[in-house]
Amino acid sequence: MMMKLQNMHVQIVKDQAAGGKAGFQIFQQALTAGAKVLGLATGSTPISIYQQLVASDLDFSQLTSVNLDEYVGLGPDHPQSYRYFMQQYLFNAKPFAHSYVPDGLNADAAAETKRYDDLIAANPIDLQLLGLGRNGHVGFNEPGTDEHSTTHKVALTQSTIDANARFFDNEDEVPRYAYSMGIGSILQAKEILIVAYGEAKAAAVAAMLQGPVTPDVPASFLQTHPNVHVILDEAAASQLK
Ligand code: GLP
Repeated sequence: MMMKLQNMHVQIVKDQAAGGKAGFQIFQQALTAGAKVLGLATGSTPISIYQQLVASDLDFSQLTSVNLDEYVGLGPDHPQSYRYFMQQYLFNAKPFAHSYVPDGLNADAAAETKRYDDLIAANPIDLQLLGLGRNGHVGFNEPGTDEHSTTHKVALTQSTIDANARFFDNEDEVPRYAYSMGIGSILQAKEILIVAYGEAKAAAVAAMLQGPVTPDVPASFLQTHPNVHVILDEAAASQLK
């Protein structure tokens, strides 16, 4: 099912596998239209899209990728780092000419966030893929984040720490900080694709699409962007009016 809510093209699919195919088509169209820089995301949500990209004959060897975020303190060899995730799900099979992820091992937050903003400015993002946090976050832009924010160091909320604890042996090991592109950086992308699956995301989806534009729900700022695609399964769409 397709519908249009304000400027957002919303597609409701049966399940995550169908969402992977729908998301793949949006990537394919962007590449056909000449996209050179892809903004990528981690989490369980994008995996089915990455599976489609890996299985495809698309070639990324002339393209650049820029990832949204990384945990502070985790390096590329840590299995829960976002760099490791990207290698595993996409880059090993489909290498890009350049793949940028914030450097979680750079303890100098001012230097790292400036470096990343300079990278984004030099590589304007054509298509940005996003997942959605249960509390309406995008990247690691937690509730309260300013719409003009650039790359910054974030203290993760308890809700996000709890949601991510399943990937670690115990909650104490979940990093408390991350580097994340800001809302302002994300909104500069020419085109955005945000994907959400499951009941746990339903309230955040309704707030993102039909609630007021507010820093309380960082994803609601997507209502101000001219070119957003949304892919949902029925459970994630269940609180839309
Ligand atoms: C993390 C990531 C987000 C992601 C969110 C949802 O907090 N920083 O980029 O969108 O989790 O994750 P999942 O897709 O696993 O539900």
